[in-house]
Order: sequence, then structure tokens, then C-alpha cells
Amino acid sequence: MTQPLILDGKAVAESVYKKLLLDVSLLSFVPRIVFIRVGEDPASQSYVRSKEKRCLELGLRGETLVFPETLGEDELMGKILNLNRDKDVIGILVQLPLPKHMDKAKVLCSIDPRKDVDGLHPENAGLLLQGKPRFVPCTPAGILEMLNFYQIPVEGKRAVVIGRSEIVGRPMAQLLLNVNATVTVCHSKTVDLPEELKRAEIIIAALGKPGFVKEEMVSPGATVVDVGINRVDGKIVGDVDFEKVKLKAHAISPVPGGVGPMTIAMLMKNLVMAATAQSQKS
Ligand code: GUN
Repeated sequence: MTQPLILDGKAVAESVYKKLLLDVSLLSFVPRIVFIRVGEDPASQSYVRSKEKRCLELGLRGETLVFPETLGEDELMGKILNLNRDKDVIGILVQLPLPKHMDKAKVLCSIDPRKDVDGLHPENAGLLLQGKPRFVPCTPAGILEMLNFYQIPVEGKRAVVIGRSEIVGRPMAQLLLNVNATVTVCHSKTVDLPEELKRAEIIIAALGKPGFVKEEMVSPGATVVDVGINRVDGKIVGDVDFEKVKLKAHAISPVPGGVGPMTIAMLMKNLVMAATAQSQKS
């Protein structure tokens, strides 16, 4: 049995950072990004810390504003409007999830789309839909970057995305379509998911169910990308039964160490892109 190609997100992210260090050195100012965290969700705390740390390593300025769970939606939008007006702020990221009393769409819509390095503002989603992307949501952008790095052909391939979230599934489908894949999006109401998966040459699993994608659902030689981050018995596991599926796949991403590191790398890339656009404007 030949060994599958392991899609090593850490290694790909490092190659992205190497290029970004050069781009940052060419800027005439230090780009500043503000992370907004509302409440004390432990996963969000850890994600934002990692983002701040990476900023520091790249010579970027990352700051976090932390607000209590009880913050009002209008107050939050007021803070965002101030950051929109602040010429010094290049990027704004509202860490999700937000508390239940807030309307996520309304809050994200209040971010200046040119500072929306997370790519979640409707204007950026619309540009992606039109095939003219500006800021693309970081996880799907990272997946495409990883497929390109390993020279996995996408054009004309049958790609199945499992999950239709705004942050992963939908933009992922759009990105794949933009590079000429034949895309199917599956979700909780899909009638025969195993049958859809069996036809796929590329599978992107982003449904949030541990070990859901089984060996018998994958055709030999497929590329399998696992977006899942599920905590099971204190361990982080993906949406794919990695040990079994790897015996069949041509290429597969592990969890952890696959898609995860790519998300922050793409955020940094978006920020440097925003800064470059800013410096060309003035
Ligand atoms: N929460 C989990 N992933 C993400 C992300 O990529 N962006 C934001 N804003 N929140 C998240």
C-alpha cells in the first residue's frame, strides 16, 4: 500500500509566512489589526491569542478588545464604527461566536468592508460570488492555498463540500467553482450523502461531526480535506476517520496540523493585502 500524501498545513503556512515577511518589510508602516472578543469562550480566547502571537512574529500590530458577554449590540457596533473611522486600523476581526442576544449578520455588516480581513461582510461575500474576490474567508482560502501548494488538480474535478456554513462551506464551494471544479454542496438534508461522496475526487468535510467520513464513502485516489475541530475525550479530532480513510486517499489533511494552521496564515495574508492596498491609495 502506498502512503498517502499528507497535506501538512503547518509546512504550507510556514511558506506563506516566509513570503509575508518580505511583503511586510516593503511596507512603509506597521499594519494594525484589532480583534474583538465578546465574552469568555475558551476556544475564542485561544484562537485570538494565536492570532496576536502570529502578528507579533510577522512584525504586525495585533490588539484585542475584550468586552463582557452583557455588552449591547449597539454598543458593539459603536466601537466598530470608531475603528472604521480610525485611519491607523487596517483590519478588524470580530471573533465568532457572538453572544446569543446579538445579530451576527448586523454586527458583521457594520465593519468597513475594506477592513474586513475575515471576508465575512456581505460586500466581500458578493465579490467572491461574482468571481472577483477581495477578502476571502480564511479557512476556505487556506484550503485552496494548500491544494495549490501540493499541486492537486482542481479544474474539472468533482468536488463535494459537506457543510453550508457562511464561514466555510458556502465560500469554499464558491472558491472551487471559481477555479472550475464541478461542485456539489451536501448538508443535513442531502438524501444520499455516501453516494455523493463516492463520486467525489475532492472532499471537503466541514460538518462538525467527529469521524463522520468513513473509508467506504471515499473512492480510491480522492483528496480528502478535513475542516473538523471536534473535542472528544479531551482530544481534538476531525470530521474524517483519518486512520482508515488515509489507506484509500491519494491525499489527506490531518487534524490537528492540517487546515487549522492555514486559517491564521490566510488572515495574515489578508491583512498584508489590506495594508498594501492602503499604502497604494495614499
Ligand atoms: N471563529 C471560528 N473561526 C473563526 C474565523 O475564522 N473568524 C472569526 N471571526 N471567528 C471565528
